[in-house]
Amino acid sequence: MASGAAANLFEAAERCLACTEPAAKCALTRATAAAILDGELAAVDAAGADGHGCPSAASAGRAGAASPIGIPGRPVRPLLVPLRQLAQRGLGSAQGRAALVHAVAHIEFNALNLAWDAVYRFRGMPADYYRDWAQVAADEARHFALLDARLAELDHAYGDFDAHDGLWEMATRTAHSCLERMALVPRVLEARGLDVTPGMIGRLRSVGDSATVTILETILREEVAHVAAGSRWFAWCCARAGIEPQATFRSLLETYMHGALRGPFNVDARLRAGFTAAELAHLDELAA
Ligand SMILES: [Fe+2]
Ligand SMILES: [Fe+2]
Repeated sequence: MASGAAANLFEAAERCLACTEPAAKCALTRATAAAILDGELAAVDAAGADGHGCPSAASAGRAGAASPIGIPGRPVRPLLVPLRQLAQRGLGSAQGRAALVHAVAHIEFNALNLAWDAVYRFRGMPADYYRDWAQVAADEARHFALLDARLAELDHAYGDFDAHDGLWEMATRTAHSCLERMALVPRVLEARGLDVTPGMIGRLRSVGDSATVTILETILREEVAHVAAGSRWFAWCCARAGIEPQATFRSLLETYMHGALRGPFNVDARLRAGFTAAELAHLDELAA
């Protein structure tokens, strides 16, 4: 692989996470995910690893624990602002459509960082866990690249619009627990994408933007597998802890999302992504 110097899977994931330039980050992600999926990078401690310009990964590997969560690798632009400061634009203009594509590209860029942090941060998980999140990272890099290319067709680039600064917050809040990360990031944040993307597709179709529609249809189809991976590993973490998953999920929603959960929910996609009918009924109650 291109970053062949990485001593193990955790160091390789940390390098992807730290990389700031989007095209380089996507290329490193593709190579790293391929190496993990081919079994070339194992989840072992990096005892003795050094000299590769990655001292924090080496020391974290020796300790068998990840470095405390910080700010992920991202470019200087877009400028990150509170959600309420973002300009609202209609889709009737090319500028409005570019702003929407930019907003989704920003979500994908964050999803890429979230996937690598899920690999890097949580030690002692089965090999399939790391393969699943490496595959998600590769998907997110491809989603970002599709939207970045679409932005270029619309005479824009990633960084041209301001973006919302809250997407990394849930990673920080759940950095202490794989169980909580799986519940809150894939099963709340990514799952919200399943709910809102069909509406976005409908609005773009109504203004004749079939190129963006095709990209969002691909993303929607593939995001079901990401949420399903979250459901699978959330259940695994609950089984390991000897706790009941549905009651645990309810209690975590209460703790983290109190009053902030919004519907309507994409029932078909969420059922395919591992939500139970009882969980969906409870989500409806919370969002009412
Ligand atoms: Fe994605
Ligand atoms: Fe995703």
